[in-house]
Amino acid sequence: MKTPQTFQNRDKAKVCFITFGCQMNKLDSELAAGEFVKHGLSLTQNPDEAGVVVVNTCIVRGHAEERALSHLGRFKRAKQQCPELVLAVMGCMAQKEGQNLLHAYPHVDIVCGTKHFGRLPELVRKVRSGGGRLAATGDAPVKFDRVPSARPNRYRAFVSIMRGCNSFCSYCIVPYVRGREVSRPPQEVEDEVRALVGDGCIEITLLGQNVDAYRHGDTDLAALLRHLDPIPGLKRLRFITSHPKDISARLLETMAELPTVCEHVHIAAQSGSNRILNAMNRGYTAERYREIVASARHIMPTIEISSDFIVGFPGETDKDFEATVSLVRNCQFNQSFIFKYSPRPGTKAAKMHDDVPTSVKQERNHRLLAVQEQLSSERNRLKQGRTFEVMLEGASKRDRSRLTGRTRGNDIVVVPKPDAAELAPGTLVDARITRCTPLTLFGEMQRTDATIRRSEP
Ligand code: SAH
Ligand code: SF4
Ligand code: F3S
Repeated sequence: MKTPQTFQNRDKAKVCFITFGCQMNKLDSELAAGEFVKHGLSLTQNPDEAGVVVVNTCIVRGHAEERALSHLGRFKRAKQQCPELVLAVMGCMAQKEGQNLLHAYPHVDIVCGTKHFGRLPELVRKVRSGGGRLAATGDAPVKFDRVPSARPNRYRAFVSIMRGCNSFCSYCIVPYVRGREVSRPPQEVEDEVRALVGDGCIEITLLGQNVDAYRHGDTDLAALLRHLDPIPGLKRLRFITSHPKDISARLLETMAELPTVCEHVHIAAQSGSNRILNAMNRGYTAERYREIVASARHIMPTIEISSDFIVGFPGETDKDFEATVSLVRNCQFNQSFIFKYSPRPGTKAAKMHDDVPTSVKQERNHRLLAVQEQLSSERNRLKQGRTFEVMLEGASKRDRSRLTGRTRGNDIVVVPKPDAAELAPGTLVDARITRCTPLTLFGEMQRTDATIRRSEP
């Protein structure tokens, strides 16, 4: 390999990724990073020393878009100081804006759409050899390649099993920037999971915009889980995100049966009002949603369910909002992610009158959060005195003398750090819960043990 050529304080052979957005975007950064590693470049977290900076963008809400744009703005000066720096924009904003980004941001060299990130090293080479500024955003077959060693976490990995979305919820930009659903052949998924587990991963999360719609030939998500469950060394299998219109009893029963599949589902509800659910084009009613939750809890009494909500969708009245509050009270989620509606140009809802004032959106957001917090606290208090299997993830950010990890139900647990060296991230321990806050359980370590067990009822 050639000695890296250093210019100013930047290293031509170092790449820095700055990633916004969902797990799929994070995975795309990881896969693109793997391609650079294959081409002999190394990764850095420090954008000031990198010869290539890649900003991976999200535009799911206005706020996400503003953050990504303000980040791009920051590199204007860096580019003036070091014109050899290659600045690339990838992800959903790159896909949506294409050439426009090159016009609006003269310091951006590469715009790389959601289906082209595997080509980033080639695009960088083109720019460096005088090929001018480039935008690659056309349609292309989805590339699922991966370099297992280039992942940030040794013990945990995300595996994309499908890409794109056919649901067209009226508020959502994702189908426009990620394209139609494409499911990956099960054998390919299995090979990747085996390679990752062989490389030290004990937890795998299968990813898809709507993972329950996975289908390749006769293989649906339940069948895929069945293929993956027996892989030796795999301890935890998860999948996100579930859509209420596609989640099946068969899937829930399969989850209950397979030892590695964790007792957690994220099923976005979005609203508790049928009128709003209909305007959102979600394809289910609040009653159906409640049925799914009841059926999941019946099949798996220890399951934890989390959800997403949008408040202030066009036309949402106080009565509609109260229906959402009532759904949240009813369903006993361990966690809810609550978003204020943000019109996304190009979607159906963007043509509706965004009539809920910002102050009302804010108020509803606070109120729903407060309801969820109270319920999370009550739910967490019931866990005090019980013991859970926790997969350690590393030192707690707030207090370095503690370790944090997750239960199979995806609850965060913080435990005191013992001196034992073997408690590296990825170790499974038993923790008895002693106290809690709405989002965190605090416990004492009982024993470390790498066997698979169900969390106790
Ligand atoms: N594919 C996943 C996630 C989609 S984006 C799913 O369907 O569950 C994550 C969340 O962002 C959505 O569940 C929704 O709650 C929220 N969201 C999407 N578009 C939004 C918009 N225009 N305004 C506010 N929230 C939005
Ligand atoms: Fe967006 Fe709906 Fe698809 Fe989720 S299911 S990505 S919310 S269109
Ligand atoms: Fe954002 Fe694109 Fe994910 S818009 S939420 S990064 S699919």
